[in-house]
Amino acid sequence: MGLFSSSMALNSFDDLFLEQLQDLYDAEQRLTKALPKMAAAAHSSALQAAFQEHLRQTENHVSRLEQVFKQLGKSAQSKTCEAMKGLVTEGDEVISASGNPDVKDAALIAAAQRVEHYEIAGYGTARTFAQRLGRQDAARLLQETLDEEAATDKKLTALAEQSVNPKAATS
Ligand SMILES: [Fe+2]
Repeated sequence: MGLFSSSMALNSFDDLFLEQLQDLYDAEQRLTKALPKMAAAAHSSALQAAFQEHLRQTENHVSRLEQVFKQLGKSAQSKTCEAMKGLVTEGDEVISASGNPDVKDAALIAAAQRVEHYEIAGYGTARTFAQRLGRQDAARLLQETLDEEAATDKKLTALAEQSVNPKAATS
C-alpha cells in the first residue's frame, strides 16, 4: 500500500500490475521467514531438503521481483499480502501441533502446497499482465519464478504420494 493511501487506486492497468507485484513481494518475504521453520519442523529428511531448496529459490524470487521493479523504474515496495499471512498462520498451526511426526509431515505438505498454488496464481497473473503491457523483460523473469513454483508443487506431490502419505497412513 502506498505511503499516503489507505485504499488502493487502480486508475490504470500499470497501477494494477504494480499492485500485483507489491503483493507478491510481500508474500515472498513472508515465505523466506516461514520456510526455515517448516524445514525445522519436518521429520522426513527429504521434506526438510525440499523446504531448504525452496527457501533458496524463494530468496531468488525476492531478488527477481526487485529486478522487475527496477525494469519498471519503480522502487521495490511491498503491500501486505493478507492471503500469505493467513497461509503462514496455518503453517504455524501445523508446526506447533502435537502428534505423530509422519502425519505432521503430511500436514506440512498440505500447507506448503496451498502456498505454492497461491503463488502460481499470482505469478501467472503478473506474467500475463506484463505481456499485455509489452514488458517482455518482466514477463520473462516472472515466468522463471512461475516455473520454479510449479516444479516445487510437483515435487511436493511426489514426496507426499511416494513416501510421506504412505507413512502417515500407517501411523
Ligand atoms: Fe516464490
